[in-house]
This record gives sequence, C-alpha cells and structure tokens, in this order.
Amino acid sequence: MSIGFVKNWTLVAGALLLGMGCHSTAQAAAHASGENLMRAYCSGCHQEHAGGLERISAIRKTPEGWIMTLVRMRQVHGLVLGEEVRDSIVRYLADTQGLAPAESAAGRFALERRPNAKDVDLGPDIGVMCGRCHSLARVSLQRRDADEWRKLAATHVGQWTSIEYSASGRDRPWWQIASGPQPDKLGSMFPFSSTAWRDWQARPARDLSGAWVVVGRVPGGKDFYGTARIDREAGGDYQAHYKLADIAGFEFAGDSKAIVYTGYEWRGSAQVGDRALREVYAVSEDGNRITGRWFDADHAEEGGEWIAIRETGPAEVLAVFPQSLRAGSTATVTLVGNGLGAAAASPLSFGAATVATHVQREAHRIRALVKVAPDAAPGLRTVSAGGALGRLVVYTQIDQIDVVPGYAIARVGGGRIDPVTAQFEAIASTRLPGGELLGLGPVEAEWTTSAFDAEAKRTEDEKFAGHFDKRGRFLPSPAGPNPAREFSGDNVGNLTVLAHAPDGKHTVEGRGHLVVTVQRWITPPIY
Ligand code: HEC
Ligand code: HEC
Repeated sequence: MSIGFVKNWTLVAGALLLGMGCHSTAQAAAHASGENLMRAYCSGCHQEHAGGLERISAIRKTPEGWIMTLVRMRQVHGLVLGEEVRDSIVRYLADTQGLAPAESAAGRFALERRPNAKDVDLGPDIGVMCGRCHSLARVSLQRRDADEWRKLAATHVGQWTSIEYSASGRDRPWWQIASGPQPDKLGSMFPFSSTAWRDWQARPARDLSGAWVVVGRVPGGKDFYGTARIDREAGGDYQAHYKLADIAGFEFAGDSKAIVYTGYEWRGSAQVGDRALREVYAVSEDGNRITGRWFDADHAEEGGEWIAIRETGPAEVLAVFPQSLRAGSTATVTLVGNGLGAAAASPLSFGAATVATHVQREAHRIRALVKVAPDAAPGLRTVSAGGALGRLVVYTQIDQIDVVPGYAIARVGGGRIDPVTAQFEAIASTRLPGGELLGLGPVEAEWTTSAFDAEAKRTEDEKFAGHFDKRGRFLPSPAGPNPAREFSGDNVGNLTVLAHAPDGKHTVEGRGHLVVTVQRWITPPIY
C-alpha cells in the first residue's frame, strides 16, 4: 500500500466522520435526501429493486463501517463523492441500517480505537479464517444474512487475489470454508434482522442538550472532572462546552462538535486545552449517560475514558480520587458526582477508622482532608455523601503490581509515519488477612525494560527499541535501518516491561511484555 493510501484514510475518515468541516444541512433533510442521493450516486452499479438497492440495503454497519465501504467504493470502484454528499449518505445509512447498542457492545473497543485491546472471541474457526488480517470486531460489527456474508468472501478473494497466501491462509482450504459453511454460520450469528434493532428503531429519539457532570480518566496521567453544557443545533448536531479541572486542581476548558449517529453513536471533534481530540462515545438508552473513549486526533493510542451524567439525575458518586488510602496517612480526597451540594450530601462518611476535615462542598464535588487511623483495618470502605455512595480502599501494604496492559505493541516511527507509543499503568493490589486480593488502583512506578529472551538479549533490543518516560509511556525509536545493529536491522525489540512501585522501605515489582515492531502503514477506522 502506498503512503497516499494512508493519507487518504486519514483525510477521508477525518473529514467525514470526525473533522466535520461542513454540514449545514438539517438532519431531517439529510435523511430525506439520503435516499435520493443513494439513488443518484449508487444505483448506477447497485441495481434498484423493491426493497432498496442491491447489496447496500441488505447490510447493517456502524458509521465507521459505512465509511470504510464508501472509501472502498472510491479506491477500488472509482466513485468520487463530494464531502457533503458522503456525509449525508453515511448519516442516512448509519441511522436506517445501523447496529443497536446491544449489537455493537462487544466490538466497541475497535470503534474506540483502544490500543492493545483483546479481540472478540468468535470461536477457533472464525478466529483463524478471519482474524489473521484484521480484528474480529470488524466482522462482529456488521449484520447481514448468509448470502451477503458469502458475497463478502467473494469480495475478499476478488479484490485481494493473494488473500489465500496471506496470513498463513494455505494451512486450510480457505476459500472452500469461506464460501461454503462459514457464511451460514456468520449469518446465524450476525443476521440482518434482529429484535434488538427493531426495538431500537421504535424507541423515542433522545435530546442530549442540557447540563452534564463529567469524569475523565487519563492512563498514566492526571484524571479530571468537571461539567459539560451540551447544545443542540438546528440541524440536530451538537456543540458541547467543557469546564474541567484535573485532580491536582489545574483548570482547563474545551469545546466539541458532535454528530450522533444511529441515535447513540456520539462522534465528536474536540479542542480541549491545547489538544485536538476525537470522541467516540455511546449514549445510554435512556439518554442520561454518555460513556466512551477520547483520544488524540493524530495518535489514537493516546487517550482515556469519559463518563458524563445529566446534572439533573439522581444523587450519584461518579468517581472517588484517589481510589485508595494507606492506613496512617492523610490525603485530600475528591468525590465527583450528582447531588453533592451542602444539604443533600450530608452526612458525609469515608467509612470506619477515617476522619474527614476541611470539607468543601460544591454541587458536583466534595473535597475533604481524610485521615486514616494507623491501626485501621484494611479493606473496602463505603463512601457516603447523603444518598450517593462510592468506594474507597484502605490498605497497609502493596502486595502485587500488575502491569496493564500485560502485553502491548509499540511501533517505531519514521518518515511520514508517526511512531505508536504504548502506555502502561502499574495497578496495585493488597492482600487482605483472609487472602483475598483487593485492587488499589494505579500507583506511581519507575519504568524500565529488559530483554524478553536470549535472542533479544543477544541483539540488544533494550538498547535500540526506545525508552520510557516518567508516566509509563514507552516512546519507540525512529525506524531503521540502523547501521549500529546487526545486519543494519530496524529498531524493533522484544522486551520485558518492569514497573517498580515504592511501598514503604521496599519496592514491589510488576512485569509486562512489550513488542516494538515496524510501522503501521494503514490505519483504517476499524482495525
Ligand atoms: C462504480 C460502481 C459502483 C458504485 C457507483 C457504487 N458501488 Fe458499491 N459496490 C461496487 C462493487 C463492484 C461492489 C462489490 C465489491 C466490493 O464490495 O467492493 C460494491 C459493493 C458495495 C457494498 C457491499 C460491500 C460489503 O459490505 O460487502 C456496499 C454496502 C456498497 N457497495 C455501497 C455503495 C454505496 C452506498 C454507493 C453509493 C454511494 C455505492 N456502493 C456505489 C461498485 C459500486
Ligand atoms: C488475508 C487478509 C484477510 C482475511 C483472511 C480476511 N479479511 Fe476481511 N478484509 C481484509 C481487507 C484487506 C479488507 C478491506 C478493508 C477495505 O475496505 O479497505 C477487509 C474488509 C472486511 C470487512 C469490511 C468490509 C466492508 O466493506 O464493510 C469485513 C466485514 C470483513 N473483512 C470480514 C472478514 C471475514 C468474515 C473474514 C473471514 C471469512 C475475513 N474478513 C478475512 C483482509 C482480510
């Protein structure tokens, strides 16, 4: 694949789905015209029949899935569409032939572009047949009957003629299976018609405008919280304004422009502080909760979690920062949520053997200085602020550090391809007297690497592949060839990740595995 192709993906996906440069057309009008636009632009090749357009009307996909298909219509079949036309068609198709929330749930990690996520498990056969080139999430995020799954197999072989030789396909009669029994299986697992989709289409549309309370998680960084005001534009799209503060108290603001596809697929393009971010969120069925992942516009691997609830909702603690306190320590604890204002949220308690002083209350935040008795029994505490409950763990020692993710991939960068970093966290646990492990949340650690095996040691991967920054992010080296390496090799590596977390006088070690590999040449919206 050429670099041009890579750039095309970025441009098209950006402009179409997230960049959202221009779409003044009202949503309803776009829908009405969606059908006409498809008749105008698609029916030349896709024959019109009673039920719609051949092939197109027999498949349901996510917004990203529709975009990928339209990019192929251009790349392979030469269909050039103006930005507004493409946008209208994607909206129309995502709204009328999308996936219900229950249907997209398992594959959301792929839409959210989570790095190092575990793929969906579709059983051993589909795993080797379809999961060697792309995620199985790409498969599970589509709905079509057996005959359409069969045609997709034909598309694979027709367009990527060496497919049977790629990715070890020759270890089995790939085509015989892909065009034989497998489409029937896929058709019964992921059929075109479903009650979930019928019910979803019948439910009332939710208006998201209003005031929201927000909590954001930043792996390796400072979590944040605040409020969002969401306004609905005339065309049905949304604008959001964020007022946020990180747990250290640093305040910042942001704005987002979002399209909500299929009634719940929030796709926003935001500027928060000095960062351009993309938002891939899902709106809950009742329209009162928005959750998902935000990430850097140019580095999808760098991002975090987002939860927003309506300010008018019931009393609720969304987050407690930090998640755990050591017996004998004193720390500022912040609760974020709903109904935390003075009258509503009293009495306030952080559980047995704790004393809270310097309590500051706001409608959506309580901050207090919490002192834990030196002889406090380790274990889970229920934090209660009036009717709203949260959790806090009291511990005496760290017994285990898990490096998360336990296995990760980073990619060297070079030329026009950016490196792909890998963010790790040291997640601590304590062992209770009864033997049970209790999670304490992320803790600070010192990050280093060592050779994963004898070969990695011999080729000195540790020296060449890259290094850690202080927050547990691995920064890969520039792409090779590197004359200093054996055979002028690339700066790839097979590394053990070591996290050393201080715990009183000693440190606790956690281990993970990191493979630093070559550039990623194509980054489609669904990997
Ligand atoms: C120039 C001819 C041409 C035009 C115009 C065209 N298509 Fe296609 N389309 C194809 C061909 C050929 C295939 C089968 C091979 C493939 O899937 O790439 C196809 C397949 C598809 C499929 C099935 C892909 C799958 O998921 O398996 C969809 C959906 C689709 N097109 C959507 C559209 C839409 C929407 C339009 C109009 C905006 C459009 N096409 C316009 C040629 C065209
Ligand atoms: C040898 C590599 C390879 C294998 C094996 C493979 N695929 Fe694909 N698949 C691709 C490529 C390449 C694309 C094209 C993405 C694009 O449109 O540019 C693709 C696209 C897709 C899409 C999106 C198509 C669309 O237009 O929406 C689906 C769904 C899919 N594959 C399912 C499957 C299934 C099911 C199997 C197993 C029967 C399978 N793939 C096996 C390489 C592979």
